[in-house]
Amino acid sequence: MPSRPYVLLSCATSADGYLDDATPRRLILSGPADLDRVDELRAGCDAILVGARTVRTDNPRLLIRDPRRSARRVARGLPAHPARVTLTATGHLDRQARFFAPGALRLVYCATPALTAARARLGDSAVLIDAGDPLSPDFMLSDLAERGVARALVEGGARVLGEFLAADLADELNLAVAPFFIADPAAPRLDLPGPGTGGPMTLAETRRVGEVALLRYLLGPGGPDHRFLRWAVELSRQCPPSDSAFSVGAVVVGEDGEVLATGFSREQEDHDHAEEVALRKLAQGQPGPDPRLRHATIYSSLVPCGARASRPVTCVGHIVAAGIPRVVFAWREPRLFTDGEGAEQLRAAGVAVTELPDLAERACAINAHLLSRTPPGAS
Ligand SMILES: NC(=O)c1ccc[n+]([C@@H]2O[C@H](COP(=O)([O-])OP(=O)(O)OC[C@H]3O[C@@H](n4cnc5c(N)ncnc54)[C@H](OP(=O)(O)O)[C@@H]3O)[C@@H](O)[C@H]2O)c1
Repeated sequence: MPSRPYVLLSCATSADGYLDDATPRRLILSGPADLDRVDELRAGCDAILVGARTVRTDNPRLLIRDPRRSARRVARGLPAHPARVTLTATGHLDRQARFFAPGALRLVYCATPALTAARARLGDSAVLIDAGDPLSPDFMLSDLAERGVARALVEGGARVLGEFLAADLADELNLAVAPFFIADPAAPRLDLPGPGTGGPMTLAETRRVGEVALLRYLLGPGGPDHRFLRWAVELSRQCPPSDSAFSVGAVVVGEDGEVLATGFSREQEDHDHAEEVALRKLAQGQPGPDPRLRHATIYSSLVPCGARASRPVTCVGHIVAAGIPRVVFAWREPRLFTDGEGAEQLRAAGVAVTELPDLAERACAINAHLLSRTPPGAS
């Protein structure tokens, strides 16, 4: 298990950047379509985290609304709802809050000095965890990873989002911008420590979701190559499970940083490879390869296959045929299913290949169930 989960920050703001208005009533900035998008995000996560003040002021349920999404999680052996997580320095939490309602695991990370008072207040309504003095978000994330949380959705509020951004603890920010202004300096905005916080983000997507504009940024260490590759690794989590094939994610990025297509193993058909799916999406309705591919990079969590039993054309073959000049991957294929030397074949075909082995552990963890198999030829 990697040392911390993939951390996705999600929030909605007004067009002038406010997260709420200054009144005590809860303001919902998203419309129905955007709330549904967030519901889908929740369904793909192991934990939803909000700050203690959001628990107190908004009293959110933090549940998946659509029962079909919960049913799909259960079918995959997951709890119906992600764990609910909060952090507090004071321990001022009310066990009657919806956060503590049954239906999902509740985790409260509490600074040491407030632990006894918090225990008295919360009793057995949540798992209370001593998170140090001062409370350490780093500790919290590594503890979540140890508890099996691979993907955490941070939904606010202003301080928690700001802290994660400032400490470079986030992999992605999904910012939904609502079509109205709040124009009240007393209302909360992202609470960042000051000028110069964080480096520039990598814009991966802009999309209209009902009346809301969704901006999807990639963050985290290492610049665009690492960020797009981390995203490809995350996509591999969406693969339908298999005992006989790897789960892989792929992202195709154009010269100007525009994401042209994404894919993951078995996304459309049983034997699909991630790169093949992404390229198929781009080929739809086109007489030949998309001309943008001549300057594109394909990011793949596993090295593209150079030998394949299930279909005649390997991913190396698809990439070379499409004219893609650059491949970035995380994990070298262990010799479980084929002996394909994908990276070497790509290089021999004139494709520039970059390996980012520091992300291999993440890509590999998603396939851990396959690795107990005996490789062909091994004694
Ligand atoms: N638009 C959106 O998408 C969205 C989403 C969520 C929330 N919101 C809004 O955001 C506002 C709330 O934001 P907020 O900044 O006031 O509060 P917040 O970020 O929700 O919570 C802050 C609290 O979390 C605890 N905390 C955070 N970092 C900590 C650390 N490093 N160590 C110890 N404790 C820590 C503290 O709890 P204690 O005080 O208990 O010590 C702190 O007061 C509300 O207006 C809410 O409506 C908007």
